[in-house]
Amino acid sequence: MLDGKRVLLIIAGGIAAYRSLELIRRLRERGCRVRCVLTRGGAQFVTPLSVAALSEEKVYQDLFSLTDESEMGHIRLSREADIIVVAPASADLIAKMANGHADDLASTALLATDKPVLIAPTMNVQMWAHPAVRRNIATLESWGVQRVGPGSGALACGETGSGRMAEPMEIVTAIETVLAQAMRPRPLAGRRALVTSGPTWEPIDPVRFIANRSSGKQGHAIASALQALGASVTLVSGPTNQPDPAGVAVVNIESAREMLEACLAALPVDVAVFAAAVADWRVDGASDQKIKKTGAPPALQMTENPDILKTIANAGANRPRLVVGFAAETESVEAHAQAKLARKGCDWILANDVSTGTGTFGGDANTLRLITHDGVDAWPTMTKVAAAARLADAIAASLPPTLKAAQ
Ligand code: C5P
Repeated sequence: MLDGKRVLLIIAGGIAAYRSLELIRRLRERGCRVRCVLTRGGAQFVTPLSVAALSEEKVYQDLFSLTDESEMGHIRLSREADIIVVAPASADLIAKMANGHADDLASTALLATDKPVLIAPTMNVQMWAHPAVRRNIATLESWGVQRVGPGSGALACGETGSGRMAEPMEIVTAIETVLAQAMRPRPLAGRRALVTSGPTWEPIDPVRFIANRSSGKQGHAIASALQALGASVTLVSGPTNQPDPAGVAVVNIESAREMLEACLAALPVDVAVFAAAVADWRVDGASDQKIKKTGAPPALQMTENPDILKTIANAGANRPRLVVGFAAETESVEAHAQAKLARKGCDWILANDVSTGTGTFGGDANTLRLITHDGVDAWPTMTKVAAAARLADAIAASLPPTLKAAQ
């Protein structure tokens, strides 16, 4: 599958750079065109001559080189590739990428690209564990940058641990995977989606709150699945332990009122999926100070929270074309979900049985029924990730294709 693919290989500074020469050979053997950018650090470890000889292409090194810019501007360099591979990816180049620097050819090409980016980090084990590197890697991954390695083992610095650049053949396999992903159909390209996920926390006082059970697993998986089909997704999430899905704009909130505000701010969207377990009530006049244990427990006055799904489903001109709600029920699942469809004014309801013993809360599997105005579709039990993919497919099938999806 690599035959004829164009790889822009950025070789940053690191002792592992010599293994990038082998990577070039493996890619050339598979019919790839490999153009290389060699950073100043990279050129300390491998020579431009060896890179040029193996890639059978000119090597690009300088952002301000008149010859390079007139032959091939940095924008063209990054756009005329199917994938950009950074191997080795040094801590310094990773930091530049995460902070949007553009002070050399490599960082500028990475900033200018609209193509998938794969990094193969390598560094000392302590550097890899440093919070700055952890933060930079998390930032890049939240933008959809893909990573291969590092592996563990003996490092050139004499220490042992995580920090070894992935083997050239592992990088080749990772390139194949990323390109296969990029070639998947993206029927939701050009569409905007809103997803709610997780619980809401309703304060009693500064240290206590009321919440519903929700791990956020299903909602986060739905945001990912819509993003994978090309949608531009805003995920409004209450507090969860789930990592931010790659390539999704995440808005973190705590209370139902904050969730509603964030959802309204995300409009207009084409599709909205409400998977959050919103607390139905909040404490009226939550205390600014911690309530003291003075003997008698406090009498909490409750008031109803806004119904976010109902509000957005009735948002007039701003109403998304497709509004999907969830119904977690413990009995008469279908009948209650049908009634909810009408009461909330949404188009679809995904109903699940959360009675004790089903393991839906916090678990990885879900048994859902998709209830629409046309009838009921009972899905088999599957993982929450698979259910999210199935929902995203159903959403894509129900919306007319956009011009972008046809490209
Ligand atoms: O009425 P009930 O809470 O059972 O409805 C569940 C559906 O409504 C879910 O999709 C949930 O995300 C949404 N909901 C909401 N705002 C509320 C309560 C529920 O968006 N205040």
